[in-house]
Amino acid sequence: MIPERLSVMHSWCVQADWDAPTIVGGKGAWFWDENGRRYLDMSSLAECMTLGHQHPALIRAIREQAEKLCFITAAWGAEPRAHLAERLLEKSGFEGGRVFFSLGGADANEHAVKIVRQALARPRGVVIARDRSYHGATHLAMALSGDPRSHAMVDPDAFVTRVRALLADIG
Ligand SMILES: Cc1ncc(COP(=O)(O)O)c(C=O)c1O
Repeated sequence: MIPERLSVMHSWCVQADWDAPTIVGGKGAWFWDENGRRYLDMSSLAECMTLGHQHPALIRAIREQAEKLCFITAAWGAEPRAHLAERLLEKSGFEGGRVFFSLGGADANEHAVKIVRQALARPRGVVIARDRSYHGATHLAMALSGDPRSHAMVDPDAFVTRVRALLADIG
């Protein structure tokens, strides 16, 4: 097999410097690489990591759904999606609300900006973003993020109003 660092581009790193081990298994809070070296997983903030690795209930739920239906496009209704929406609405107390499922954090932020601009009928309505913030790696999310390292690649002023600039305007 081609070494992963030669076949995959990884996010938020210098590509030539990336050389992490390939992880092949896990249990609970631990995972291990192809040489059997074990690591304590400290990444509980990321994605679904709080669930830990290989919990039997999670494996069972994935297997049960995979046996029924692995995928259906967004044009159709899907039982697990409707069920999750109902649970989220119950937990959030957002009675009469509807859930929009996105693919990740940057996607969610993109949609939040798009939906609020559509709802207000202001296609270029002002968005206030904080310095030293992170909102994702898509074009708009990078512009929203208060990270000067990525601003050279996007045009923040086309998308967002920085708090500092807004306060300077207010005086
Ligand atoms: C606050 C915040 N917003 C957005 C994102 C982007 O999420 P994703 O990597 O799923 O696009 C992250 C990811 O770390 C985040 O912490």
